[in-house]
Amino acid sequence: TTVVADTGDIDAIRRFEPTDATTNPSLILQAAQLEGRRERLAEIARQAADIDDALDAVAVEIGSEISSLVPGYVSTEVSARLSFDTDATLARARSLIERYGRHGVGAERILIKVAATWEGIRAAQQLEREGIHTNLTLLFGFAQAQACADAGVTLVSPFVGRILDWHKAQAPDADFSGDNDPGVRSVKRIYEHYKGHGYDTIVMGASFRNAGEILALAGCDRLTISPALLGELADTSGPLARRLSSQDAETRAPEPLHEAD
Ligand code: E4P
Repeated sequence: TTVVADTGDIDAIRRFEPTDATTNPSLILQAAQLEGRRERLAEIARQAADIDDALDAVAVEIGSEISSLVPGYVSTEVSARLSFDTDATLARARSLIERYGRHGVGAERILIKVAATWEGIRAAQQLEREGIHTNLTLLFGFAQAQACADAGVTLVSPFVGRILDWHKAQAPDADFSGDNDPGVRSVKRIYEHYKGHGYDTIVMGASFRNAGEILALAGCDRLTISPALLGELADTSGPLARRLSSQDAETRAPEPLHEAD
């Protein structure tokens, strides 16, 4: 399992040394307010033409710095406001890649995060044809995953915690621990389907709410994890760290779902 940091916090990236990093507009906003960077990033935002321009400029500024610290991909998101507009998503994604180019960061280092709506998937299919790699996000179910794989996207981010949040709201007293976690089950199903059918699309579990969900998905291609949960992973005495860092977890698939699933 490749460990990915789900943050725009440069200090956390230095501390945890992940292979990749993922950001989204709220993580960028949080990172931009951190001590030491606030003034410079506020100045960049002030020079922008409008709010979208400001968000992209700051996201690329932070993303470029992250790309100098991690060996793998940096994910930068197209505003979710554009999720149902293929052309607007395409324009925004191309402009993000151009901005990265101006910072000396090549397209091969960047994953453009696009919402896995029908329109977003169509945009991602076109971007991949142009050599722009995509990370299809806000993925809550199998049908989205199938459409993303058919479109040939580089990576999907199925959301574990948001699925759990929804189920918890419906059934507050139910036991959703371990393999009863519907978010975990959703990712396993997607993973098994992709591997069983030879899809190249990378599966990266995202939106984790607790360490147990991460442990249950050890062996998945990639997992993007918040600094708080990475802190638990960094405790090398803990079982979670052992499971994810073991030789075995590098190569194996997550424990499969039972047949009845
Ligand atoms: C990662 O790609 C996502 O942006 C992130 O994991 C979402 O997590 P959340 O559900 O806690 O917002």
